[in-house]
Amino acid sequence: MRAYSSYKDIIKLVNKVDSVGLVPTMGSLHDGHLSLIRRALSENKKVIVSIYVNPLQFDNNDELKKYPRDIKNDLQKLETMSDILAYVPNDNEIYQKDEKKKKYNFGQFTKIMEGKMRPGHFDGVATVVEKLLKMFNPSNAYFGEKDFQQLILIKALVKEQKLKVNIIGCKTIREDDGLAMSSRNKLLNSTDRESASNIIRLLKKAKQLYKSSTLEETKINILKDALMIDNLNLEYFEILDTSKLSGFLEQEEEIRAFIACKVGNIRLIDNITI
Ligand code: PAF
Repeated sequence: MRAYSSYKDIIKLVNKVDSVGLVPTMGSLHDGHLSLIRRALSENKKVIVSIYVNPLQFDNNDELKKYPRDIKNDLQKLETMSDILAYVPNDNEIYQKDEKKKKYNFGQFTKIMEGKMRPGHFDGVATVVEKLLKMFNPSNAYFGEKDFQQLILIKALVKEQKLKVNIIGCKTIREDDGLAMSSRNKLLNSTDRESASNIIRLLKKAKQLYKSSTLEETKINILKDALMIDNLNLEYFEILDTSKLSGFLEQEEEIRAFIACKVGNIRLIDNITI
């Protein structure tokens, strides 16, 4: 692995390589990221791992400030991997002074769930991902299914911008008790960490209930159950056919349950197919 702060240095090294993978991250790398990186390495000759906490996708300054950062540790995790180019830009490399996020219109699916709870978040994500994809022109780019709505957004972005990259969604990697791996998990104190393990329990319960109950009954049951969990405040719980999430894309029909909650002060999301 070698680390670069200028994209131009990376381009010089990869412009003759016939398959380049891109794994965009905001750092604080965990096993979920490492599984994306390993998959990218198995499918490409060179893999660019970008590590950049994108200010334009945060709801407010507090959230941005408390986002975990550990660049030294991140680079150590990548150190022994060959064919990795770590891209570690500063704000000036990515954005012009006072640059604002672009405004996109990907329809209704960016106005529900994460789009509704975090107005402007998806515009911020799409702004930085569009820049990274256009900078490096990778053959393949890898994103986790934990952020399922983000994955669909990026597929819609690629279609709208007519980019020639395959967007590859990768399964969520979980802790032993089922909590989806996330950089934010390390911000949970021990009591909240225990409460957070209920997130997957609620999703699995919904999967069971949905087999024999209506959508409404399932949702009410989950909402009641969530109320009993210490320090867990549900923001939304939805069961949706993901093929209907975006009119921009042809997706196979697949029913998924989605959850977002605050555990203590930490916002967590997860989803499973049901
Ligand atoms: O999922 C993330 O970590 C971020 O949203 C991404 C895709 C790296 C863009 O900043």
